[in-house]
Amino acid sequence: MDLSTFPRTPLCRLPTPLEPLENLTRVLGGPRLLIKRDDMTGLAMGGNKARQLEFYLGQALDQGADTIVTTGAIQSNHACMTAAAAARLGLACHIQLETRVPGKGPEYAGTGNVLLDRMFGAILHTFPEGEDEAAADAALDRIAEDVRRRGGRPYVVHLGLGHPPWGGLGYVDAARETTGQADALGIDVDAVVLASGSGSTHGGMLIGLRAQGKDIGVHGVCVRRDKASQRARIIERVGEIESLLGVADPVPEGDILLTDDYLGPGYGQVTPELLEATSLLARTEGLLADPVYSGKALAALVGMARDGVWSKDETVVFLHTGGLPAIFAYADALGGL
Ligand SMILES: Cc1ncc(COP(=O)(O)O)c(C=O)c1O
Repeated sequence: MDLSTFPRTPLCRLPTPLEPLENLTRVLGGPRLLIKRDDMTGLAMGGNKARQLEFYLGQALDQGADTIVTTGAIQSNHACMTAAAAARLGLACHIQLETRVPGKGPEYAGTGNVLLDRMFGAILHTFPEGEDEAAADAALDRIAEDVRRRGGRPYVVHLGLGHPPWGGLGYVDAARETTGQADALGIDVDAVVLASGSGSTHGGMLIGLRAQGKDIGVHGVCVRRDKASQRARIIERVGEIESLLGVADPVPEGDILLTDDYLGPGYGQVTPELLEATSLLARTEGLLADPVYSGKALAALVGMARDGVWSKDETVVFLHTGGLPAIFAYADALGGL
């Protein structure tokens, strides 16, 4: 699949490592576990959003934008990494922070990614309705309109459906990178486990693996909405990415695997399974997972391995999508570990 015709601006250190999780494999006694270190993409403390932003900001530069406008939860990694990327490219950046997680205190509002947003010089806006994606995107368009009125040239990265998901191309490419690494190591991968939020990572990975002719199960772990809603979203996201690429051999709906068993009460809300899995990874491998995305995906990996979803001779890749700055905003929840 040729991605070279799409505008792209380099922001990541690629390839990210694909490494064995020998200790965790031994402790769980299930399938052989590997980790794809997209927490090491290098921009603003790493994470999956850097791969996506290479394509979004490629579009922005191609269109001559001088300002980037985007939205996310208060502790959004996407918003923070957009602020970092804009700083690196010499662009102004407006980020809209949505109130999405109930019952959080001053650490949540001021540390972690919010602290970094400020360090990267982003102009911060607030939006009270974190569960209303269409309204958040409409509010973004109003910020962009205001930038335009003042003589700026904004480029908006919407998160809702119905806008070209250029970021998904980053994970079409990550699928090629990961299978190339596994092939070079002589390892047959049976499954990938990843956090499924806006769906660009999950959708891009499904399309990219299919393009490589690989029959690898992609297990999306719901971090934002229940399985039925996320399934509808991934179907649509995959379709949008496929139409950007002009894919002739679309991903069958049956390939969309999802669990919401690890979502807990909702987005950004810590669960006992997340705490246990995060602690296990930290204490067996010396690696960190975040409390919103990679920690929930990790909880699913651990739970599914214990439940015998895979046999001992299968190989499962955990896609570490980063998100680590948010750890500090969740010190109240993580401090008891
Ligand atoms: C750390 C991290 N992991 C995973 C995701 C989910 O990725 P996607 O939105 O592409 O589904 C996000 C989204 O914000 C994230 O910040």
